[in-house]
Formats: sequence, structure tokens, C-alpha cells
Amino acid sequence: MWPELAQLKADFDQALASAGTDPQRLEEVRIRFAGRKSGALRLLEEQLKRLPKEEKPTFGKELNQLKAYIEEQLAVALAQVRQARGVGEQVDVTLPGRKPALGALHPVTLVRREIEDIFLRMGYSVADGPEVEDDWHNFEALNIPPDHPARDTQDTFYLPGGLLLRTHTSPVQIRTMEAFRPPIRVIIPGRVYRRDSDLRHSPMFHQVEGLVVDEGVSFAHLKATLEAFVHRLFDPSLQVRLRPSFFPFTEPSAEVDITCVLCRGGGCGVCSGSGWVEILGAGMVDPRVFRAVGIDPVRYTGFAFGLGLDRVAMLKYRIPDLRLLFSGDERLLRQFPGGLAR
Ligand code: PHE
Repeated sequence: MWPELAQLKADFDQALASAGTDPQRLEEVRIRFAGRKSGALRLLEEQLKRLPKEEKPTFGKELNQLKAYIEEQLAVALAQVRQARGVGEQVDVTLPGRKPALGALHPVTLVRREIEDIFLRMGYSVADGPEVEDDWHNFEALNIPPDHPARDTQDTFYLPGGLLLRTHTSPVQIRTMEAFRPPIRVIIPGRVYRRDSDLRHSPMFHQVEGLVVDEGVSFAHLKATLEAFVHRLFDPSLQVRLRPSFFPFTEPSAEVDITCVLCRGGGCGVCSGSGWVEILGAGMVDPRVFRAVGIDPVRYTGFAFGLGLDRVAMLKYRIPDLRLLFSGDERLLRQFPGGLAR
């Protein structure tokens, strides 16, 4: 063997042995001996070109053999590295999988959807409107006079430019009647805002408004609709009670109670011992409201109602504290049907 080649082989063997299965050191060995640009083999190939003609064949042959040997040794060493690594990385297919964390729907969302479904089946459409309202839609067109307490800055969040955060979903009654002629049958779920914050009140809460306008709509239709609704949402054994009340935009008006869902009428903390809980305000659309939107109050009548969605969610799912609904606590959310990660 040519002495240079023999020397190179010896150097390579020694370098390879001392690199062991360290991938980085093996890579260094590869570059040093088999590197394309200036590896030792590459330099010997240059040397071959300059040899006298008669020496080229033997040197060339031995060089090729050495090259093949080095490449093979490197390949073997790399295979060993991969195998050594693989031991640590082996996958135990018998281990239990990791469950992906799936989200859950908020109880208010669940009840809203259920209420929407009930009214959609009764032929209603779902409508909505802006949370930032003007005075006309939130108060004026609803026959709420300038000195009405609801307009007080103590109760309403006013914004610059004469705007405000709607204090109820009733302004969407006005928007709906401005945009469509009767017959009208809509429900309007949405967020509303009042300057109120204590154990039972949150400055933001949810309502579902209902509005029906047509020829011949009567108070009996209102009562039957609310009963059908309550019986589907809770259960048919619950009673519905209407108490005379007042709203500027309905006449006559009523507050609507249902048998306390928790004590079934026996009296408990939730219903303050009365056996009834209030869930709705309702009434026949006031003729002045019809006039404000250009609907003939002689030809048409209608009813409207406004339901406290958070209250209903609390009753339906027996949530004891209003603040839990707005706490963002995932432990609450995980407890609901349709909620996963349980
Ligand atoms: N807007 C009323 C409220 O927020 C509820 C209501 C709606 C009453 C429709 C009657 C008719 O208290």
C-alpha cells in the first residue's frame, strides 16, 4: 500500500474509534476524511492527477478502495448512532393517550340556544340590534318620558355623542318595526347594560325580547305563548302567573312569575319563601309605540315580552349565585351538558 494511503487509513481508524457514538464528533471525522471540499480523500484525488502516468493506476486503485472503506465505516458508525438513540425514543403504544382539552358552552349560551329553538319552532325569527344605542330607540320611541327614572345617569351608561349602552333589548322592537311591516314574529337575544352591581345584579346581563305584531293579536295569545314556552323550557307541571304591572311601552302590562323550580312552590331561599320566581316582563304593545314607527294602531295589535336570560339559566341549571355566571371559572363550565373535558 502507498505510504500516504496507509497513514491516512491509520489516522481514520483512530479518529473513528475515539469518536465512538458521539454524532457531533462523527460528523467532524466525516468532514476531515470524506469532506467534499477539502477532506483528506479529496486532497489525495488532487495528488493523483499530478502523479507520473505509470504510477496513476495503482495509486488510483488503492485510493478508491480506501475511499470505499472510509465511507462504509462511516455509514456503519452512523447506523449505530441512530440505533443507540432509538432506544430512548421508542414509543410505548400501550400507554393511554392524552385527551385533547375540548371547550364547553356557557350555561347562558346553552339556554339562549334552547329558547331560540323553542320560538323558532313556533314560527318566530331571531333578530338582533346594536348594544350601543341612541336615545330614540332605547327610550323615546318606546314612550319612555324624559323624566323617567330609567333615563337617570345613575342607571344608564351614557357615551359621548348622545349615545348610550342599551338598558334593555326593547330598542330592537323599534328597529324591527322600522324595518319590517306586520306580520312580525321575532325574538331578540342580547346583552344589556345597567349601572347596577351587587349580589343579584351585574352591570351587564342578558335578555331575550319577544315581539309579535299582526291583526287580531290579543292578550290571550300572549299568555298562551308564554305558557307554552315555560312548559317546554322547564316542564309542563309548572304554573305561570301574571301580575299587573307597568311599562311605558306596553298597555296593559304584566310581570310574569313561574312556580319556583327549586322548591316547586313550597318556598325556599331562591324564591324568598313565596314559591314563585319572576322571569319576565310583558304586555300589549302601546299604541304610542306603533305611532312612533308608523304602524296603524287601529288595524294592528301586538304583544311584547322581555325575559331575563341569566335568571332563567340559574333556575334551569340550579346555579346559586349570579356572579358565578360571569366569573370565567372553568370549573363551572365543565359541569354543563355539551361541555366536555369531563
Ligand atoms: N324592557 C323591559 C325591561 O327591561 C322588559 C319588557 C319587555 C317588558 C317587553 C314588557 C315588554 O325590564
